[in-house]
Amino acid sequence: MIKRLWAKLGKATLPSADSEAFDNVPRHVAIIMDGNGRWAKNRGLPRMAGHHSGMKTVKRITMAAERIGVKYLTLYAFSTENWKRPRAEVDFLMKLPEQFLEVELKDLMANNVQVRMMGYREDLPPHTLKAVEEAIERTAKNTGLVLNFALNYGSRKEMLEAIKEIAIDVKRGELAPEAIDDRLMHSRLLTSDIPDPDLLIRTSGELRLSNFMLWQLAYSELWFTDVYWPEFTEEHFHEAIQEYRRRARRYGGL
Ligand code: FPP
Repeated sequence: MIKRLWAKLGKATLPSADSEAFDNVPRHVAIIMDGNGRWAKNRGLPRMAGHHSGMKTVKRITMAAERIGVKYLTLYAFSTENWKRPRAEVDFLMKLPEQFLEVELKDLMANNVQVRMMGYREDLPPHTLKAVEEAIERTAKNTGLVLNFALNYGSRKEMLEAIKEIAIDVKRGELAPEAIDDRLMHSRLLTSDIPDPDLLIRTSGELRLSNFMLWQLAYSELWFTDVYWPEFTEEHFHEAIQEYRRRARRYGGL
């Protein structure tokens, strides 16, 4: 299986150890899962059918990422702007984490996946939060892939909150303005304990960031596809990884 996967990824020889020995696989992949609604519309289905199908893709890509040794997978499941959608759709989206975890938690445990959440907990309905917190707690000791759900997440809010915190510390005399640097900012973001994404994937043909990890994506490689999220397969994912492996990252240097 691993051999076949590696061949697909274009590596001539198979590493001797397990999948973690694969070289130059992105450590952190972030995905803007887009196109559920259009996928459904094209089939004459309600938008909710698209989201339901998108949930299956979440499982498929989580397992694909785990198999090739990605360490962090961050999925944009609900933005701070998505509350503007019709009530019925918001309610449906808020039920997806519990539906997903109810069915998949056992498998995630078996695969050593650790569930986390990045976003503002206070606005989430209690049933959504309960399911997510339960999954976080039950998988906390797992040491494999970190599956990070961006739920009620917005990058500008995240940065503004960090700036407010920093300003308060300066005002109190606990922090010198000269001490404000990249590292300090990183330590005040919701991603303080994970590295920045190496690769960002967005499905559905839209070419924008939609308020997603604006600070953290500063030097990430970007990969876009026209494929809608419900039909995004392991092969598409490998295509993105393969492209990432070919790119030279210079971080502003030569
Ligand atoms: C964007 O597509 C998708 C979302 C706003 C929701 C993403 C949610 C999932 C893929 C399921 C999440 C699953 C779990 C387990 C949390 P869109 O609705 O904007 O599509 P459109 O642009 O075609 O209308």
